[in-house]
Amino acid sequence: MSEELKNLLSEDLRDELTKIFEKATNEIADLIVTQDLDQIKIDFIGKKGQLTDILRKIGKLSPEERPVLGSHANEVRERIANAIEDKRKQLSIKDGEQKLISEKIDVTLPSRRTEHGKRHPISTVITELEDIFIGMGFDVVSGPEIEYAYYNFTALNTPESHPARDLQDTFYINGANINTIDGEEVVLRTQTSSVQIRVMEKTQPPIRMVCPGRVFRCDSVDATHSPMFHQLEGLVVDKNITMNDLRDTLEEFVRGLFNEDTKIRFRPHHFPFTEPSAEVDFQCFICGGKGCSFCKDEGWIEMLGAGMVHPKVLAECGIDPEIYTGFAFGFGLDRLAMVKYGIDDLRLLFENDIRFLRQL
Ligand code: PHE
Repeated sequence: MSEELKNLLSEDLRDELTKIFEKATNEIADLIVTQDLDQIKIDFIGKKGQLTDILRKIGKLSPEERPVLGSHANEVRERIANAIEDKRKQLSIKDGEQKLISEKIDVTLPSRRTEHGKRHPISTVITELEDIFIGMGFDVVSGPEIEYAYYNFTALNTPESHPARDLQDTFYINGANINTIDGEEVVLRTQTSSVQIRVMEKTQPPIRMVCPGRVFRCDSVDATHSPMFHQLEGLVVDKNITMNDLRDTLEEFVRGLFNEDTKIRFRPHHFPFTEPSAEVDFQCFICGGKGCSFCKDEGWIEMLGAGMVHPKVLAECGIDPEIYTGFAFGFGLDRLAMVKYGIDDLRLLFENDIRFLRQL
């Protein structure tokens, strides 16, 4: 290569360096997004960047010129790197300011309205009933919804052959190949009466307890049926407990629930775990017993099942039926809530529509 040509080349490279420097600083000055700085770094001073190209060309210069231009190139690289870092700092301050502005909260603005739920009528009824029974000295207990068939049926004097245990009526837990647990069939409890057994098994009289809770039966959904509904169970066991005590207790309870004059009446019935058993009606609280569309001109509303605890059930739980007697009662809470709030379709209770709850 002639001297002249080499000089020219070195001049060209100098020019090129100047151009790169100008271009880089212009781009840095114009840029407004921090992330773009990374691209500029790659484009100009990265391994495959424009400056590296020049360094490669500088390598071809004469030994005298190489260090001169080499150090010039390094200086350019350093200045570009510094410019990038300066810009980065500038932008981060700006970003911070921007963030402060965009996230500014006007504390004087009225607050946004949030959706508030409302207490479910079933929960309200449960609390009200618990209050009434606690006032009469009852304990409130709870028991499992997934229950051994023993507690739901067998111990309640309801043997295997009983129709209530039919697959058509009862949900058996047989998912995941479990038909039995500890050799026992497992069901979704069909009644809260299972809790009577659990309490009596553990406690000697005197016993006074109520248990509200969910129960399950194979039923299709319509205005008056649901496969899941709620019951409240009551149990009293002590010496000298009679049917009179049952009557007094239930009377006290309906008076607390409706009004002082509400009457009740007993009709003979059958439950496997009480003897004698009765169905209990409340006087219609709408017409006061005269007959209206609500009570279908009966004057009475069928409300609960009750009776004297069967001696076999007491004995099964380790309570001596020669010494102790007891009464039990159980009723549906959903119907009661419907009666109380004038709800004509059971499904409304389980659809979770806030507009419905707001009306109550
Ligand atoms: N468990 C009964 C039912 O679900 C109601 C009941 C409870 C009857 C207690 C008598 C005594 O129908």
